[in-house]
Amino acid sequence: MSYNLLKGKRGIIFGALDENSIAWKTAERVHEEGGKFVLTNAPIAMRMGQINALAEKTGSEIIPADATNLEDLENLVTKSVEILGGKLDFVLHSIGMSVNVRKGKAYTDQNYDWTQKGWDVSAVSFHKTMQTLYKNDAMSEWGSIVALTYMAAQRVFPDYNDMADNKAYLESIARSFGYFFGKEKKVRVNTISQSPTPTTAGQGVKGFDGFINYAEKMSPLGNATALDCANYTVTLFSDLTKRVTLQNLYNDGGFSNVGVSQEVIDGFSTDK
Ligand SMILES: NC(=O)c1ccc[n+]([C@@H]2O[C@H](COP(=O)([O-])OP(=O)(O)OC[C@H]3O[C@@H](n4cnc5c(N)ncnc54)[C@H](O)[C@@H]3O)[C@@H](O)[C@H]2O)c1
Repeated sequence: MSYNLLKGKRGIIFGALDENSIAWKTAERVHEEGGKFVLTNAPIAMRMGQINALAEKTGSEIIPADATNLEDLENLVTKSVEILGGKLDFVLHSIGMSVNVRKGKAYTDQNYDWTQKGWDVSAVSFHKTMQTLYKNDAMSEWGSIVALTYMAAQRVFPDYNDMADNKAYLESIARSFGYFFGKEKKVRVNTISQSPTPTTAGQGVKGFDGFINYAEKMSPLGNATALDCANYTVTLFSDLTKRVTLQNLYNDGGFSNVGVSQEVIDGFSTDK
């Protein structure tokens, strides 16, 4: 169903790798709501080629950019404004990667070169993206910027590894940069803290299967899907949420406020 919430709006969507990606679902929903956008991802992700199908479906152009590289970001932002014919109303940062997780290094045995790389990709890239948008004055007034995060930024999830620290940093950047973006340009900046979701990045976390099932049993509304996240992002890009900013917003079926659920208690009960 479409509500035309994003009619006439322009933006950039980072991070659509394949059809499971949260950014992929978001691009589809933004398109349905009348928004126009440029798709971007790291050059290495482009080689897999799936993003072309999404570009075709949504009538979008693709501009490759490594989100840790300032030259790439400069090119992305200036070209996007040209292609779309005006300043941007929305940006989605949907990027995450930990080299320590990928290579099976424990949190207590990190390779710090990898820690730094993961921090740059997963957190600092958000600052770099916003700084590039800010310096180029590329955002329209009342524009909206969203990044995706996970609750391991607040609470311990042992297998989330150094991504927990990266997400805490990412959420802090949203608040700190959001202050200046709000004051100077009337642009809002928020993070959505999403349920575990079966995507390439999500499934990289050790024991993901047990973890997602546990979250499902703990959440009164069940886990939020990638489509649920896309829909929430659409509302944050729309004019209906103009003064929501500097927030970390949970899209998790209620998980973050539950101590324990009956299903989980039942799983541990020794009563017959
Ligand atoms: N899947 C989950 O369980 C879950 C839960 C909460 C939050 N998130 C967050 O959602 C976001 C999207 O992840 P996803 O689950 O859709 O997985 P995904 O693997 O589909 O997306 C991650 C994207 O990051 C991109 N990326 C990696 N390095 C990059 C770089 N240097 N420059 C530009 N792009 C780069 C990848 O190419 C990929 O498209 C991430 O921030 C992730 O941490 C995911």
